[in-house]
Amino acid sequence: MRAVALLGLGTMGAGMAGRLLDAGHSLSVWNRTSARAEPLVARGARLAATPRDAATGADVIVSMVADDKASRSVWLGPDGALAGVPPGAIAIESSTLTPGWIRELAEATAKAFAVLLDAPVTGSRIQAAEGQLLFLVGGDAAVLDRVRDVFGAMSRGVVHLGPSGSGALVKLVNNFVCGVQAASLAEAVAMIERSGLDRERALGVLQDGAGGSLVVKGVSKRMVERDYVVNFKLELMGKDLTYAIAEGERLGVTLETATAALGVFRRAVAQGHGEKDMASVVEPLR
Ligand SMILES: NC(=O)c1ccc[n+]([C@@H]2O[C@H](COP(=O)([O-])OP(=O)(O)OC[C@H]3O[C@@H](n4cnc5c(N)ncnc54)[C@H](OP(=O)(O)O)[C@@H]3O)[C@@H](O)[C@H]2O)c1
Repeated sequence: MRAVALLGLGTMGAGMAGRLLDAGHSLSVWNRTSARAEPLVARGARLAATPRDAATGADVIVSMVADDKASRSVWLGPDGALAGVPPGAIAIESSTLTPGWIRELAEATAKAFAVLLDAPVTGSRIQAAEGQLLFLVGGDAAVLDRVRDVFGAMSRGVVHLGPSGSGALVKLVNNFVCGVQAASLAEAVAMIERSGLDRERALGVLQDGAGGSLVVKGVSKRMVERDYVVNFKLELMGKDLTYAIAEGERLGVTLETATAALGVFRRAVAQGHGEKDMASVVEPLR
């Protein structure tokens, strides 16, 4: 049994925290909106007043928050986790963030005598709740080996991708491909609906064909049913596309398809769909 702290109890963090409790770890939780911690506290988690309080006494600290800004504030803010982290602890940053911020955070973590793994995930709300995520890890392989049990409680697997920042980079590559697929699927659904084709039959061809990725299969169903209960917030896909485009620029690769997809997502945010599931990206096109 480990002393684990989890910072960020949104769609993903809440499920991950539940799995850590299921595995019998001693868990401290913190969330900016503390009411979201109630179900976990009822199951035995300790509600920390600040990220610093959560990290105090923990040997593994996991963060699962929205973006670079939120991550900076939970780790480096005045009551941030690095102010409380015990020497030798392992910090795991699982949010989808920029490799540049991960590099900065790794340095700050080392100065606090702890060590950072970047470990963003694939999988969504249901996989988080069921312990079926896949962790994409950057950082020291020997450090990863010391926390395999913690990852094991939350996942179906771990892929070690290389030094610090590698997990963050692969996650951005993965998500810009998903974002491009979701944006083109939205256009396809709108086109099929406007044409008067039999929608189910036409989409069945897409789902079973060469383009029938997990995104196309899963998201097209939610688009058709207008089921926008959040699995992945639309505005977060906009964030991921923005980060991927910037990282592509840094590497000298212009992500033209991601830029076009970002335009489709921004239009949906402008029309008030940012807080809904990303499947609602189809709405402005309907
Ligand atoms: N959902 C998915 O399918 C999925 C899949 C893979 C990766 N991800 C990534 O995982 C991360 C979390 O996603 P999610 O779906 O759980 O998002 P979410 O439901 O929107 O939750 C976001 C979390 O970040 C916190 N937060 C936001 N801004 C903050 C700030 N300035 N300071 C402190 N805390 C802040 C929120 O606190 P409040 O409760 O107070 O708002 C909440 O705990 C994101 O980086 C996302 O891109 C998501």
